[in-house]
Amino acid sequence: MNRPQRIVIVGAAGRLGRSLERRFSNEARVTGLTRADLDLRSADSIRSALEGLDFDRLILPAAMTAVDPCETDPETAFAINGEAPGVIAGICAAKNAHMTHVSTDFVFDGRKQGAYDEQDAAHPISVYGASKLEGEMKVLEADPGHLVVRVSWLYGPGKPAFPEWIVGKAVADDSISLPEDKTGSPTSSEDVADWLARLILDAARPPASGIYHLCNSGSCTWREWGQACLDLAREAGIALRAKTIAANTLADIPAFLAPRPANSVMSNAKLAAFTGIQPRSWQEALREHFERSGCLDSFRTEACG
Ligand SMILES: NC(=O)c1ccc[n+]([C@@H]2O[C@H](COP(=O)([O-])OP(=O)(O)OC[C@H]3O[C@@H](n4cnc5c(N)ncnc54)[C@H](OP(=O)(O)O)[C@@H]3O)[C@@H](O)[C@H]2O)c1
Repeated sequence: MNRPQRIVIVGAAGRLGRSLERRFSNEARVTGLTRADLDLRSADSIRSALEGLDFDRLILPAAMTAVDPCETDPETAFAINGEAPGVIAGICAAKNAHMTHVSTDFVFDGRKQGAYDEQDAAHPISVYGASKLEGEMKVLEADPGHLVVRVSWLYGPGKPAFPEWIVGKAVADDSISLPEDKTGSPTSSEDVADWLARLILDAARPPASGIYHLCNSGSCTWREWGQACLDLAREAGIALRAKTIAANTLADIPAFLAPRPANSVMSNAKLAAFTGIQPRSWQEALREHFERSGCLDSFRTEACG
């Protein structure tokens, strides 16, 4: 089996796309495509960007990721998250190239007690979740040798996410609240890139196919995640006005148009069995993000200035 030579990343400017481009550039020739190169709303645009390229692996992290706008514009959500992955999967199959489609914990309804594994039936409760599930199905229909990886509560260097947002809130406000009735697994985009390299670049065996859950180990409520971020920021010397986060519920946030799954913790046992890597805990990965990514730099400038 040959080592893959050429990898295309569709969505290279996104949070996960940046981690993937950095990580995979060590291994192969990477072509990172962004919205400037193709519009996922248009099959013609996708075809003209991809059909002329020569590659043996393609990864699709690009998506309409904002959950509430999906609720108000389902047509665009299904075009980008449902149709486009199927078009790309067909192009990859015709080229005999392996595709990885990045999906989400929001395909689950959140009613299960305990962690979801890959055998659990998906039952989305939002337009975002339903559109992502449609994308999953179209990708695997086009070629069962393709791979779907579901990630959850993603953050990473280069593009702010929840950790940077909650620290910004605590710098500015005296009191903040977050839901205690929503549980998940915060996950580092840098770790996802490492795990995916093990899933699809191993020269000794064919790339993984089917569905895999990729998340750091352990789980917490949304409030606990926020509190962990504030504790790390304080430890790093950031002056916070709010030092603790009060508990509220999802129902207390009127801006949330889309229903969110109350529990979207996923099991990473299948990933661990395939790769031999036991994903590190969410706390360890989050600490490294705070210590190494420079995510607190803008708050330091504000504090000093
Ligand atoms: N973030 C999370 O917590 C989370 C949780 C579970 C699953 N996921 C999944 O993980 C994947 C990566 O998430 P992420 O946080 O890295 O997302 P992200 O930072 O929002 O990146 C998504 C990328 O998709 C691009 N895109 C959107 N619409 C497009 C279009 N019509 N044509 C071309 N490109 C388009 C965006 O381009 P622009 O930069 O130009 O806007 C952006 O670069 C997604 O598939 C998401 O569904 C994310």
